[in-house]
Order: sequence, then C-alpha cells, then structure tokens
Amino acid sequence: MPLAPEQLRQFDDEGYLFFPNCFSTDEIALLGIESDAILKQQRPEVWREKSGAPRTAFAAHTYSEVFRLLAHHPRLTEPLQQLFGEPVYVHQFKINAKAAFEGDVWQWHQDYGTWARDDGMPEPRAMNIAVFLDEVYPFNGALMLVPRSHKHGTFAAGHDLATTSYPLWTLDQDTVTRLCREAEHDGKPGIVAPTGRSGSVLMFHGNLVHASAPNITPYPRKIIYLTLCAVSNHITKFTRPEFIAHRDFTPIAPVADDALAEYARAHRQAAE
Ligand code: SIN
Ligand code: MN
Repeated sequence: MPLAPEQLRQFDDEGYLFFPNCFSTDEIALLGIESDAILKQQRPEVWREKSGAPRTAFAAHTYSEVFRLLAHHPRLTEPLQQLFGEPVYVHQFKINAKAAFEGDVWQWHQDYGTWARDDGMPEPRAMNIAVFLDEVYPFNGALMLVPRSHKHGTFAAGHDLATTSYPLWTLDQDTVTRLCREAEHDGKPGIVAPTGRSGSVLMFHGNLVHASAPNITPYPRKIIYLTLCAVSNHITKFTRPEFIAHRDFTPIAPVADDALAEYARAHRQAAE
C-alpha cells in the first residue's frame, strides 16, 4: 500500500516511520526459524561478537530462498521506491542477532556516513528498513533514534575499529548531545525507541542518528535490516566485501504480497 500524504510528511519531519504488525505470525515464524539456522552457521557472512555469540549474518538473501523473498517483498520495497521515485536495489542485507545476554552495543552513527565514506554512495538516497523478528522491548537493545537528526546532512565521524567486532563511523558525544537537546519537546527526551511485536517494521532516513545498547536480558532481539538504494545512486567504491556492500545494482522486481505465506504453507504441507 502506498504511503499516505500524512506518512510522507511525518517521514520528512521526523526521519522515520513505524508500522506495527506489518508481517503475520506465520510469516515471522518462517523468518525466525530460518534466521536461527543461519546464525548458527560458520561461514564468512556470519560475524560474531567478541564473546563468540552471533552478531550479524550478512547477505542471507543470496543463500536463502526465504530471505530472497523478504528482500523482494513489496511491503518493504514499494514504500522506498515511492520515496525515491525510482527503482531500488539491495545495497545490504543483515540479520542482527542482539543475542540474549551477549548482544553488543551499536554506537551512535548515521548509516549514510558509512555508505558515503566506505562505499562511495553519491547521496543519502538509500535507507534501512527494519523487520522485527523478536518482540522489541525497551530493555533488550531497542534501536534508539534521534528524531529530526536527518535534517543536518552528514556529520564528521570517527572510524571505530575497537569497540565492537564491526567497524563503524561513529559520532562524538557533543554532537549526539546537541541533537538530542534539539529534539527535546514538552519535557520529553530527544530520543525515541520504537518497541513492539515481532512483525513490526521501522524505516528510517540514511542520515538519522541512531544506536542501540547491549542486550543484558534473556530476551533476544533479532532484527533484519534491508538496505535499499535508488538504482541511479549506486555505490562507486568497492572497499568492503561484496557480501557487505553489494555490487549487483539490478532493480528489484517485487514478489507477490503472499509469497512468504505461500512458502510457509507449501513447506508445512511437504513436512506433513
Ligand atoms: C545498525 O544500526 O545498523 C544496527 C543497529 C542494531 O541492530 O541495533
Ligand atoms: Mn545503522
């Protein structure tokens, strides 16, 4: 369903949109089983925390039919195609585990900061669209966003190679403090952390400042991040492995809206 004018306005003002319960329980069960199986695998695409717990599985849409269907799903691709006014391709695909007790921090950053510096992406005409695979609570490493921080372009950043197992261009504390102060209103803090059931979807601007705290609870917080980029804005530098920053700029042809539900039904029947 296309984004309504009010949603377009909200996205432009705040830098994000949240869609509770976008995928059904059956669709999420399928994605959850598949992601648990992938996160257990030893393969170059599966990165681990310093503790050894799985952190991120990259590019699962290239080796799993279930995730190929998700990366081509119209509920994810069509809003971004609408926003960018042109076809999109998959720049990155991540399953972020944020494992119980061991899921580590993601420091404050802008996604486009990394795409511009590492991948030579010309403009912030790419975006992460997050699919919650577990319920996200305020306490299991919810993604924290600074509303309206996408209005300032791309900030200076330092390349953090030490804090976690994954290199990231991160913002300094003064910048984050200033942006949070600016976003405060009516006595509320300048950070939002959308929470909700598995199946919820969150899309946020490539320049929106965000982070997540470690997960010290027994509740895992798996989220899939599908990064879609406008085809005419494809990357120009190939400094990262292909499975982290894709070089196939083929426009996405969306699958049918019931493709995941059909896959789940067919495989249930085959197992019976
Ligand atoms: C990201 O910002 O790319 C990931 C953050 C998270 O999974 O918490
Ligand atoms: Mn990010």
